[in-house]
Amino acid sequence: MEVKTSLLDNMIGVGDMVLLEPLNEDSFIVNLRNRFDHNEIYTYIGSVVISMNPYRSLPIYTPQKVEEYRNRNFYELSPHIYALADEAYRSLRDQDKDQCILITGESGAGKTEASKLVMSYVAAVCGKGQEVNKVKEQLLQSNPVLEAFGNAKTMRNDNSSRFGKYMDIEFDFKGDPLGGVISNYLLEKSRVCKQPRGERNFHIFYQLLSGASDDTLMKLKLDRDFSKYNYLSLDSANVNGLDDAASFRTVRNAMQIVGFMEAEVQSVLELVAAVLKLGNIEFKPESRVNGFDESRVKDKNDLKEMCELLGIEQSVLERAFSYRTVEAKMEKMSTTLNVAQAYYARDALAKNLYSRLFSWLVTRINESIKAQAKTRHKVMGVLDIYGFEIFEVRDNSFEQFIINYCNEKLQQIFIELTLREEQEEYIREDIEWTNIEYFNNAIICDLIENNQNGILAMLDEECLRPGTVTDDTFLDKLNTICAEHQHFESRLNKNSKFLTDHSLPHSCFRIQHYAGKVLYRVEGFVDKNNDLLYRDLSQAMYKATHSLMRQLFPEGNPAKVNLKRPPTAGFQFKASVGVLMKNLQTKNPNYIRCIKPNDKKVAHIFTDSLVCHQVRYLGLVENVRVRRAGYAFRQPYESCLERYKMLCKKTWPHWRGPARDGVEVLLTDCSVPTEEFAYGRSKIFIRNPRTLFTLEERRRACLEDLATLIQKIYRGWKSRTHFLLLKKSQVVVAAWYRRYAQQNKYQKIKSATLVMQSFIRGWKARNILRQLKYEKRCKEAVTTIAAYWHGTQARMELRRLKTEARNKRAVSVIWAYWQGTKARRELRRLKEEARRKHAVAIIWAYWLGLQVRREYRKFFRANAGKKIYDFTIQRIMQKYFLGLKTTTMSPMDNTWPAKPYGFLEGAHTQLRRIFHLWRCKKYRGQFTEEKKAVYEEKLEASEIFKDKKALYPSSVSQPFKGDYLEIQKNPKYQKLNSAMEEKVLLADLVNKINRANGKGSPRLFLLTKSNFVLADQKTGQVKASVPLPDLASVSVSTQSDGFFALKLKEGSASASKGDFLLSSEHLIEIITKLHRIGTTAADRDQINIDISDEFLVQFKQDKVCVKFIQGGPKNGNSAACKRKNNRLLEVSVPSP
Ligand SMILES: Nc1ncnc2c1ncn2[C@@H]1O[C@H](COP(=O)(O)OP(=O)(O)OP(=O)(O)O)[C@@H](O)[C@H]1O
Ligand SMILES: [Mg+2]
Repeated sequence: MEVKTSLLDNMIGVGDMVLLEPLNEDSFIVNLRNRFDHNEIYTYIGSVVISMNPYRSLPIYTPQKVEEYRNRNFYELSPHIYALADEAYRSLRDQDKDQCILITGESGAGKTEASKLVMSYVAAVCGKGQEVNKVKEQLLQSNPVLEAFGNAKTMRNDNSSRFGKYMDIEFDFKGDPLGGVISNYLLEKSRVCKQPRGERNFHIFYQLLSGASDDTLMKLKLDRDFSKYNYLSLDSANVNGLDDAASFRTVRNAMQIVGFMEAEVQSVLELVAAVLKLGNIEFKPESRVNGFDESRVKDKNDLKEMCELLGIEQSVLERAFSYRTVEAKMEKMSTTLNVAQAYYARDALAKNLYSRLFSWLVTRINESIKAQAKTRHKVMGVLDIYGFEIFEVRDNSFEQFIINYCNEKLQQIFIELTLREEQEEYIREDIEWTNIEYFNNAIICDLIENNQNGILAMLDEECLRPGTVTDDTFLDKLNTICAEHQHFESRLNKNSKFLTDHSLPHSCFRIQHYAGKVLYRVEGFVDKNNDLLYRDLSQAMYKATHSLMRQLFPEGNPAKVNLKRPPTAGFQFKASVGVLMKNLQTKNPNYIRCIKPNDKKVAHIFTDSLVCHQVRYLGLVENVRVRRAGYAFRQPYESCLERYKMLCKKTWPHWRGPARDGVEVLLTDCSVPTEEFAYGRSKIFIRNPRTLFTLEERRRACLEDLATLIQKIYRGWKSRTHFLLLKKSQVVVAAWYRRYAQQNKYQKIKSATLVMQSFIRGWKARNILRQLKYEKRCKEAVTTIAAYWHGTQARMELRRLKTEARNKRAVSVIWAYWQGTKARRELRRLKEEARRKHAVAIIWAYWLGLQVRREYRKFFRANAGKKIYDFTIQRIMQKYFLGLKTTTMSPMDNTWPAKPYGFLEGAHTQLRRIFHLWRCKKYRGQFTEEKKAVYEEKLEASEIFKDKKALYPSSVSQPFKGDYLEIQKNPKYQKLNSAMEEKVLLADLVNKINRANGKGSPRLFLLTKSNFVLADQKTGQVKASVPLPDLASVSVSTQSDGFFALKLKEGSASASKGDFLLSSEHLIEIITKLHRIGTTAADRDQINIDISDEFLVQFKQDKVCVKFIQGGPKNGNSAACKRKNNRLLEVSVPSP
């Protein structure tokens, strides 16, 4: 954990100026500088925080820092804005005291940043939860919205707040934020129309133009280029470190979080765009009959676009820029405006429009962030208001006057609250009061705000007075009325001492503010105070259809015409400051005094003169003096005793008795000098913070001792616990060890015993083994002896047996030989006997045959043998022929029985041939004339095509039908039929091949005895009729296609049209028929049939070669004809 430094630890310089010795302006500034150089930007004057702007981000605002300062005593840690925020928040939460945090300082000193730091700290330490977080987020996000519309780049600050802001944050009893209320003060609206050199208009204009999408800009009729807008100063349009486009996105997002509806955002942006457009409207003079110039709008485009944007009738606004209606009681008068007045009116409108839009935004945000609960709230106010402004280069004008007036009031409230509160507390606590000398600026406030002769009252009087009113008349008035005032200076003053003061020009007056003298130029005071907007313009605005616009100009409503002048700017401001002061008076104040270290807006530079000036006008040294004069520190007895009771043995650890007595005992024991403190009714008052810091220091040392004690006890306890644990462990370890040792010993004895046992057993076993081996050897010896003896016996027996067997074998061999001899003899005998028996049988058969022949010879004639032979042969032939009867009469039948006898060889073959010829003849005999002709044709086809054209085999089984179209019967061909003079031998559908593309077109093909005709398939109209004598030859391919060419005789009448290349499914039949007609007709030559895969065809003038290729690209099953070039048609025939 990080080591916390107390205020007295390693402090750079002095953390609390109250302790500064010696105290004077120089030492004060040296201390500030010293601390600033070491990055210590915060220093206390008692409970007031001085904040130096570091102009760079320091790592002191981290969440860890928040945690460090949370719930810590104010003086416990080094000075920080978080310490003040924590103190304020705790006193609000725990003591129910409303708080206000007053942040003052000049422009660029870091007020706005400080206010944001306070808010973010409070947001971080207060309660959490979904609802609470939403409230916090809305409160925090109201800042970017207001900064976009109310902040601008100035020479002093790139993000200068051009309005005063007071925000009340409301908390419930637990300290959780409930909501808030924002009040805004005097927006510097003159900036809308004109910005000093090097400064910019309000951020929102640049953010809108840089960050809005093209679509949004188009809707708003805007251009991204800043230079197009008169109201935007260009020399510092882009500010280093500011990303307008990104800021625009942040603002849109913040508006959404705060609760703006999308339509509201759009309306707001439309009004911003309208202001920019308004700035571009220019006027030109137009002479009138009466000699006066009247203003006219120069280029109406911007006016038109603005009117379209807001829904205002263009003519109404145009008129409002040229005329002004003055109403008084019952009278109404219209006067023309000259160009200067028109420009004045335009700017007044732009300023009013923008400042009203800004106030509307504040109201709208308030609506979103207002606390919902009706219960009593605790309130913490944060005031971030413009600091004292003195321009040395530029003229101080009405705005500076108003701002400085506000600062005077704040100073007054500071004096009042600090000193009066102090005084009241002393009385309350019954402490003796020593008067403190300080400058009370009430007199300056009175000079400005006095209702009778205050400067503001006189300005109002001048503005309302009839007659000619100018800034000079106002100054005259001041000179007469305020002449005597100590703090008012003017050249024309009765006070002669200023008559020769050349630092005071005639058109100026000077006020000695509490912070220094300020010279004001009166020019523009009356106008700015009047803040006049012509009624015609407000009425024109009210007529707009844009609802937000109407809302902003309620006085334009003709139904509510108010002839009374609106309150002046000064009056309004005074009233709102009055309300603010009343509000602040009810709260416990906390001060943050911001100081700007240099004019260059850069880090690390500390300009003594600049800081000195600020220290002076903020009255900081005086502040330290006041603080020192009284009692710097006070605390209720209870909490004082609680905090320091460890410093005295009597009060530590518990004091029994009243707290006051305890504190008394404590302080006496600590030997604090009696003049250093005073006993109040409920509080102890400590005069010098040093005493407090000594107490703190002693407390810290004591805490260290206490910590040591606690550490000692803790360590003792820890060591004892550790020892007991060790002891307990030791017993357990010893027990375990003993057990382990015994186990080991037992194991050793056990294994020794086992060894001995095994040795003995081994010895015993070996003895037995030896004994057994001996016995076994004895037994084996006996066996061997017996075996030898038995062997001898057996060999002797064997020898005897062998001798016996040899004898037996000799006997059996001899026996076998003898038996063999016997068997051979017997076999020879048996063979002899069989031969004899066979011979006897043959002789017997011969003898029997002889007997039979002798017996039957008498019954046969002389040629009976031949007859029997013939008969037998006849019978055989008869049977053979009857066997042939099974053969059918079909000429197609190839069966024939096998020959039964070899001698029939030749006859059998011949008989088969004869029979086949005979049955064919028989078959032919049955044919009619027509069928005969068909077969003749078939025969002819076979002669022509067999083995020459691959298509032929498939045609054999198809009968030649001739009239495929049924031309006689079909009514469709009636006309065609009647046109034919002869009998139609063949009518078929063919394809006529077109030479150009090889495609076929269907034709009817008719053939008669004398000519062939090609006719249209649909209409039946004759296309060509060619006498057959004109036909020279027919060409076909060798393949299975149906293409054929009919070639005509050269020089014949029909040849003029050229040859015909046709294709047909019945090619074989057509060609056969053509051939046949040629053969049968006596009067003409036979038609040549040319079968080849390449032939020439005469198409009108050209000869084209038709080539057939096999296995071409498959196009179904049919052949495809394709034109290859002018002279070649290629027919691809699919492979079979
Ligand atoms: N604590 C800080 N840490 C870092 N930078 C700071 C701090 N305070 C101020 N600054 C820087 O100084 C700039 C000016 O501060 P800020 O806007 O708060 O001044 P201001 O007092 O509000 O001025 P104005 O009166 O013109 O609004 C900031 O934009 C920031 O860059
Ligand atoms: Mg600011």
